[in-house]
Amino acid sequence: MACCLDVQFLFNDNHEEPPNQLRDSTMSAEKKIRKLGVIGDVHAEHRRLSSAIKYLQSLDVDAIVCTGDIVDGLGCPNESIRLLDNEAIHTVRGNHDRWILEGKARHVEHAHLASDLSKDALRYLESLPRQVTLETIAGRLLLCHGVAHDDLRKVWPGTASTPVERSYLLDSIILENTYKYIINGHMHFRTLIHFENLTLINAGTLKGEYWPGFSAIDFDTQQISAFEFNDNQIKPLRERDLADETHKIWVNTQSFCGKWDPVMLF
Ligand SMILES: [Fe+2]
Repeated sequence: MACCLDVQFLFNDNHEEPPNQLRDSTMSAEKKIRKLGVIGDVHAEHRRLSSAIKYLQSLDVDAIVCTGDIVDGLGCPNESIRLLDNEAIHTVRGNHDRWILEGKARHVEHAHLASDLSKDALRYLESLPRQVTLETIAGRLLLCHGVAHDDLRKVWPGTASTPVERSYLLDSIILENTYKYIINGHMHFRTLIHFENLTLINAGTLKGEYWPGFSAIDFDTQQISAFEFNDNQIKPLRERDLADETHKIWVNTQSFCGKWDPVMLF
């Protein structure tokens, strides 16, 4: 099903990593996605992951995506990986998944060790792509953790409490006009950032302290529905228009001004 994605980027931001096209994949265009389930950084929240997958399946989604960071958290990484694998969730590798394989940053809170993982789980992490291209009925979608192959890159228009995060890599993607949507994670903040020809959807996280939840996108009605975990019960929160023109629309990340009113999905 997967094949290589040949994308050359003009910029590589600050996080240098040699291109590895084997780690990028694109879904066969046999059936374009109309309804998509969106799960953010898992951080070993296996119970919430299981509930989110079941809930999204009950909504009759065509596919479910996950932005990675499966390990490093309070729950079970092996069970989280088993669920993602068994349910054929389109998942990308997060920086925490890379770090555990590289033996890096194991001082982070609730870090797992490679020795905590089963052989199958390790194999699964090693097999994860950095980015996945999916075809929706409304245009092409890029799933990644940070920005494209850079799993540490953040994008943020800037608010009073959080400074601007720009990305030349994202700006080059916007300029190429190949993708209509990007779904990423890493920032643990479920939000929409509107550019002129592209909508960036941050999928957030299942992790406890950051408004845990997930979303579903209907590309036909152009609505995104947000759900949250409330005492581990799933509660529908709100619906937003994916292309809501009442919100600030940026040209690219260089046009970020630092005075953004976030379009929240929680
Ligand atoms: Fe994360």
